[in-house]
Amino acid sequence: MGTEGASSPRLAARMAEIQPFHVMRLLARARELERQGRDIVHMEIGEPDFTAPEAVVEAGVQALRDGRSHYTPASGLTELREALADYYRRQYAVGLDARRILVTPGASGALQLLLGILLDPGDEVLMADPGYPCNRNFVRLYEGRARPVPVGPETRYQLTEELLRAHWSPSTRVVMLASPANPTGTWVAEDDLRAMAALCAERGAALVVDEIYHGLLYPPRWWTAACLAGEIFVINSFSKYFAMTGWRLGWLVAPMEYVEALERLAQNLFLAPPTPAQYAALAALDEDNCALLERRREIFRQRRDYLLPALRRLGFEIACEPDGAFYIYADCSHLDNDSFILSRQLMEQAGVVVTPGIDFGHHRADQHLRFAYTTSLERLREGVARMTEFFG
Ligand SMILES: Cc1ncc(COP(=O)(O)O)c(C=O)c1O
Repeated sequence: MGTEGASSPRLAARMAEIQPFHVMRLLARARELERQGRDIVHMEIGEPDFTAPEAVVEAGVQALRDGRSHYTPASGLTELREALADYYRRQYAVGLDARRILVTPGASGALQLLLGILLDPGDEVLMADPGYPCNRNFVRLYEGRARPVPVGPETRYQLTEELLRAHWSPSTRVVMLASPANPTGTWVAEDDLRAMAALCAERGAALVVDEIYHGLLYPPRWWTAACLAGEIFVINSFSKYFAMTGWRLGWLVAPMEYVEALERLAQNLFLAPPTPAQYAALAALDEDNCALLERRREIFRQRRDYLLPALRRLGFEIACEPDGAFYIYADCSHLDNDSFILSRQLMEQAGVVVTPGIDFGHHRADQHLRFAYTTSLERLREGVARMTEFFG
């Protein structure tokens, strides 16, 4: 059958600017190779290889069995918001009014809600390049303008007060940070964060701090931007530390005066976060479960401690060591000047999949690869052995 008669869909102009993840093309090819019987080491996957612990799964299943699958309030179950406030008290020694915590469909839902209530067309959002790619697309969706700020090892791949001052414009309305960040795994030091918060307060901009990789810091650090006053919004999720990516649950801590608007938009955008997942999340916040997650954190640390020197021995330059998450962002310019081509060769010839820098922005993207240690030490060793052979 030909394509005669088929016409291309008429899409909104913004869709020309919303990019797919390039790694998906690699992944599709990797799956094809796997179907042909080839063994592939996956070092591209941005989610824990662990699943939600048994007690968490059980709580979700029980909720379904009990028929607790109707809509909840748009901002989430009251008991979950209170349990999250308790989690902040326990982990961070920070007292939060539970009404300031909104449960969302993943951190993704929180980001969309937040930008929805903050941005008018043309408003600018400062963010690090490299950084989490969806942010600029969310900004585009609301007709704002993403302003990527090139960052490198000299600022540990993070924005600083100085960089904000240099890139600020009269249209700057929001500053977005992630700590620890994707793809670099670096964390923003408390003093730097306070300085950026003060600048945002002085200039009337909102500060969004994405703490989705909190809990995955080596060694652990429990300090949250949620303890700061002002127009500061903190995002987190059950996806990474709690290993619940597919349950689609996150949360947002907002200043009280924004809660009503957030709830109003949440009612319209999502109606409610997924109900069985919210009951499972109550079990995820339980102290016993958190003790188990700490043991998993130690496994991630061991993997990082193995992979970091191994990549350096292979010739990758890693100018600043990641503090957390499960990523290593490595400069591959000594090996190849096009990281997308290198990632394709690594897959085809060495059977190792990694994410090319281009998925995280433009700044020196062609010279970087992101390695994720979301697979066992044994598989990481296998990947390193294959790359050692590939690089000769
Ligand atoms: C920095 C960052 N923020 C937000 C998200 C979205 O996470 P989720 O919607 O699963 O909570 C991700 C996912 O990889 C991420 O890396």
